[in-house]
Amino acid sequence: MSRIPVAVVGATGLAGQEFLVSLAGHPMLEVVKVAASSRSAGKTMAQATKDDKGASRWFCTEPLPAEFADLKVEDSASMTTDGVRLVFSAVEADVARELEPKCAATVPVISTASAFRYEDDVPVFLPGVNWDHAALIDLQRKKRGWKGFISPGPNCTTVGLAMTLKPLDVAFGVEKVLMTSMQALSGAGRSPGVTAMDILDNIIPYIPKEEEKVDKETIKILGRISGDAIVPAAIAVSCTCTRVNVIEGHTESVFVQLKRKASLADIKKVWREFGAELATLGLPSAPKQLIVEREDPYRPQVRLDRDEDGGMATVVGRLREDPALPNGVKYMLVSHNTRMGAAKGAILVAEYLVKKGRIV
Ligand SMILES: NC(=O)c1ccc[n+]([C@@H]2O[C@H](COP(=O)([O-])OP(=O)(O)OC[C@H]3O[C@@H](n4cnc5c(N)ncnc54)[C@H](OP(=O)(O)O)[C@@H]3O)[C@@H](O)[C@H]2O)c1
Repeated sequence: MSRIPVAVVGATGLAGQEFLVSLAGHPMLEVVKVAASSRSAGKTMAQATKDDKGASRWFCTEPLPAEFADLKVEDSASMTTDGVRLVFSAVEADVARELEPKCAATVPVISTASAFRYEDDVPVFLPGVNWDHAALIDLQRKKRGWKGFISPGPNCTTVGLAMTLKPLDVAFGVEKVLMTSMQALSGAGRSPGVTAMDILDNIIPYIPKEEEKVDKETIKILGRISGDAIVPAAIAVSCTCTRVNVIEGHTESVFVQLKRKASLADIKKVWREFGAELATLGLPSAPKQLIVEREDPYRPQVRLDRDEDGGMATVVGRLREDPALPNGVKYMLVSHNTRMGAAKGAILVAEYLVKKGRIV
């Protein structure tokens, strides 16, 4: 099969860089175009990821893949979709609101931005969790008169939460969820990002707009398709989102009230078995297991567990009964915010949609 030519917009940012690392040598997708702001336009990727004084602005653990070093960065404001059949968008929401519909008029757009997440005809795919929401793609195309469509991924903090709740909801029903996050610095992006003076020796107890996003997206992702719409899951979700002094990987403390009592062994079993069919599809970015459970009471630890299966698995641990909630359980999770939580998660969605003939 010849590879599908794609563009990465916001390629110089944290999520964009992760796109390039994850797309290097990809068997189905080939990056032929990169774009960012007018600050980077006209430079090569190698030049655009250095600041004016020559200091590196490349933040991935892996280096800039050699195959993209000489690609010229286009200005996203004047970029066209000529020569590409898919756009990955990794820009802030205000830029995405203008850019993504322009691209979607001709080709599919898979995005990490929140701009269109809450619109009725827009699915928010979480790999293995809600592929049935793909029915909205046809509706979106028809309603908006586009050849393509917009498919945003969830907020990086929603990813681990919705992933671990889905099998619990299917097996036992979920009534109520309380969650406190400890989120990595890279989740704030690099422009301007979080300054060292604010975060060293500190925890910041507020991330603007984050809690509302997680509450809203979780019930949309866990919702069911009915006719032309998603009916949000009837689950009460309440979160506190904090920023901690960790570079990559979000940690979450989760309390769940189930509809039916479940033993801890039953919960571990449904987590272990969840998403088994995804691993059989032969998608290059899919993890062997979506949820990996650790028995060690000192795990998950963000530094040790965020890279599980290439940063694509959600790692859970410290599962125990919760005496304060009826049918209550509680656990900790770690999920990689720029891999499954942004770029590589978006690539996995693209691989799935290619496999199902939704991206050609
Ligand atoms: N970081 C994460 O963990 C994460 C996780 C999930 C979702 N997201 C979402 O992904 C998107 C990107 O986040 P990020 O963390 O990668 O941010 P970032 O590091 O700040 O990168 C922003 C990117 O957008 C470009 N850009 C800035 N202003 C622009 C403009 N006016 N026109 C066109 N391009 C412009 C930048 O280009 P220049 O280099 O030229 O300035 C850069 O490529 C956001 O919507 C964010 O919410 C991020």
